[in-house]
Amino acid sequence: MEQQAETRVVHSPEYIIRRAEKQDIPAVIRINRLTLPENYPEWFFYEHLEKWGEAFYVAVVGGEVVGYVMSRVEHGISVFNSFKLVRKGHIVSIAVLPEHRRKGIGTALMKAALKSLSEIYGCDEVYLEVRVSNTPAIRMYEKLGFKKVKIVPMYYLDGEDAYIMAVNLREKAQD
Ligand SMILES: CC(C)(COP(=O)(O)OP(=O)(O)OC[C@H]1O[C@@H](n2cnc3c(N)ncnc32)[C@H](O)[C@@H]1OP(=O)(O)O)[C@@H](O)C(=O)NCCC(=O)NCCS
Repeated sequence: MEQQAETRVVHSPEYIIRRAEKQDIPAVIRINRLTLPENYPEWFFYEHLEKWGEAFYVAVVGGEVVGYVMSRVEHGISVFNSFKLVRKGHIVSIAVLPEHRRKGIGTALMKAALKSLSEIYGCDEVYLEVRVSNTPAIRMYEKLGFKKVKIVPMYYLDGEDAYIMAVNLREKAQD
C-alpha cells in the first residue's frame, strides 16, 4: 500500500482512501443510515468536515464511496490517567458497506484517521465507544492497538452497554 504524504491518499489495488470532501457527505450519510443505529443530523457531518476535516476520510471503490471514518478532537482528562489533561482524538463514527467488508478497508480508514489525529492535530490518545456485542469492530480496534478501558452501562438508546476503547498514540508508533 502506497501513502502519498502531501495529499494523504492511500492507494491499494482494490480501494482508495482519501480525505472526505463536501460532495461526499450525502454518500457518507447514506452509509451511516444503512449500517448503524447511531445516526446524526446532516449538519453534524458537515460540522465535523469543517472543523476536523483532516481526520475525516472516505474509502472509494470504482468511483463509489463505500466507507468513511469521522473524527473529532477534544481537550480533557486522559482516558489512561485521570490526573492528566490531554488532546484526545475521538472516532465518532466508522462504517463500511457490507459488500466491501473484510478487505482491510475499515483498518485502512482507521490508520489514516489515527495518523492525522496524531500528526496533524497533535493528539496524545484516541478513544471511541463501541457496543459490547460488536465483535467485528472490537477485533479491528484491538488489532490497531486499542484496549478496552471501561464499560458504560446503558450507553445506547436501546439499553446496550458500551466499551470505551482507547489507544495511546505516544506509546504506539503508527504504520
Ligand atoms: C467494523 C467495520 C467498520 C470493519 O470494516 P472492515 O472493512 O470489514 O474491516 P477490516 O477488513 O479492516 O477488518 C479488520 C479486522 O477486523 C476483524 N473483523 C472484521 N469483521 C469481522 C467479523 N465480521 N467477524 C470477526 N472479525 C471481524 C478481523 O480481525 C479483521 O481482520 P481479518 O479480516 O484479517 O481477519 C465494519 O464491519 C462495519 O462497517 N460495521 C458496521 C458499522 C460498525 O459497527 N461500526 C463501528 C461502530 S463502533
